[in-house]
Amino acid sequence: MNCKTADEIEIMRKAGKIVAETLVMVGQQIKPGLKTGKLDQMIEDFIRSNDAIPAFKNYQGYPASACISIDDEVVHGIPGQRAMKEGEIVSVDVGAIYEGFYGDSARTYAVGAISDEKARLLEVTEKCLVAGIDKAKNGNKLGQISAAVQKMAEDAGYGVVRQLVGHGIGRQMHEEPQIPNFGSPDEGPVLMTGMVLAIEPMINMGTHEVKTMPDGWTFVTADGLPSAHFEHTVAVTPNGPDVLTVV
Ligand code: MF3
Ligand code: CO
Repeated sequence: MNCKTADEIEIMRKAGKIVAETLVMVGQQIKPGLKTGKLDQMIEDFIRSNDAIPAFKNYQGYPASACISIDDEVVHGIPGQRAMKEGEIVSVDVGAIYEGFYGDSARTYAVGAISDEKARLLEVTEKCLVAGIDKAKNGNKLGQISAAVQKMAEDAGYGVVRQLVGHGIGRQMHEEPQIPNFGSPDEGPVLMTGMVLAIEPMINMGTHEVKTMPDGWTFVTADGLPSAHFEHTVAVTPNGPDVLTVV
């Protein structure tokens, strides 16, 4: 496994801070009528003004700086002319490269007032992320993260997306290991100090099944029900999980 030194983790903390500050800015901007393409431009400008590079732009041909996914869109929604509406939930996924290292984080926002069902989905999905992060400890199995996320989601009656996974992160956005959001606690590699993980539950209100749209990027739920996504970049340290994507 690709472990980072303490110095490398400090650089990754800067990348993570830039991503986290970007997501704070996003939270201040989200409102009914805002076009996703406009928000993407603000995100790109914000990242570049912090001496960082938007990590997703041109990644395998991806055309924007952020992934912006509304309601039944799970992840990888491409920003454009669509305007956000009151009552929608909007997942914003942001990556930045700072001094050669990646930070990656996402959260799902409410646009104005949302239904109680959607509010519960956001709450539970964030709790899934926290439950996964709590297991990111030296000596644990990777599967303990997966199992903790799955239990939290399924106990609430939700579907855990299986087709997409979290990932190791460092000088590349996607490194080993893959981090499924479902599975048995005794599976996978043993976690070690210096590993940095992007943990990212994608939780559906209904079925876990997803499909891709004709644009080749956007994943949507198979049943059209809403989906939420929360992600942090987390280092495994001797003192436990250290979340790097914070302000
Ligand atoms: N955060 C996502 C991931 O971890 C988004 C990257 S997809 C991209 O895979 F194409 F937009 F870059
Ligand atoms: Co990611």
